[in-house]
Amino acid sequence: MASVGTSSYLPTLPVPHEREGVGYELQTVLVELVDLSLIGKQRHWAVIGPLFRPLHLQLDELVDSCRARADTVAERAVALGFVPNGQAQAIAAGSELAPVAQGPIEDHVVVRELTRHVADVSERIRARLEAVGEADLASQNVLIKVVRELEKQQWMFRVQLGERA
Ligand SMILES: [Fe+2]
Repeated sequence: MASVGTSSYLPTLPVPHEREGVGYELQTVLVELVDLSLIGKQRHWAVIGPLFRPLHLQLDELVDSCRARADTVAERAVALGFVPNGQAQAIAAGSELAPVAQGPIEDHVVVRELTRHVADVSERIRARLEAVGEADLASQNVLIKVVRELEKQQWMFRVQLGERA
């Protein structure tokens, strides 16, 4: 009798039913990355103050980075046979990030706020690494790359806080 992996042409994990569990973990990360990209774009538009220009550009770098990583995470889920949901309703229902205010916001407030948001998302992904790794090292590797990128983004916001960080 053919195994689940060979019969369906899906990757064979050590425990095949864990594919769905890993899929859900990847879905959760996808939701947070998409939400972080939306928050970054909102701040890209709403930031004011002397640092408007560099922050306006830096926020688009964060948005691009989150969107690229979200795509990698979603495609890893699909490779495992789990189709993720990146639609607005799923993001609104699943994200742990609080929405940000719509209106204009001072540059130094944006830096502090984004440092915290990026750190929160990164820490929540870190907390999933061990469980995902026990089921599937390849998916863990995808998430490790996401954490590395987010921690780089976190650093680039944090240093702007100087001694206040
Ligand atoms: Fe723009």
